[in-house]
Amino acid sequence: SSPLPIISQEEVTKHRSLKDGVWVTYKGGVYDITEFVSMHPGGEKIMMAAGGAIEPFWSLYAVHNQEHVLDILSGYKVGEL
Ligand code: HEM
Repeated sequence: SSPLPIISQEEVTKHRSLKDGVWVTYKGGVYDITEFVSMHPGGEKIMMAAGGAIEPFWSLYAVHNQEHVLDILSGYKVGEL
């Protein structure tokens, strides 16, 4: 399989709404979570991370510190920072 594209932080920042797409970063990976937003068990809080890093939020909400949460995230990977 071909490698995923390198995406700039500036490009990620442009994706912070359902209209423009919702992208987040995690440990150097870029994820397009647009389709997941409406399925998020924690509701609209997920939009607080839109266009940026999810680490600060996941440190506050330790419920994400589980393998099945990372499995969900990995399915939405679109690139590397
Ligand atoms: C719960 C995924 C971002 C707040 C959850 C759960 C998943 C999930 C799978 C359920 C976990 C379980 O109960 O086993 C994600 C993903 C995110 C994300 C994939 C980003 C791509 C965020 C952000 C916030 C947040 C940024 C807060 C600013 C919460 C809260 C819950 C939760 C409060 C608990 C909901 C409840 O049980 O009542 N999230 N989340 N999440 N999430 Fe997220």
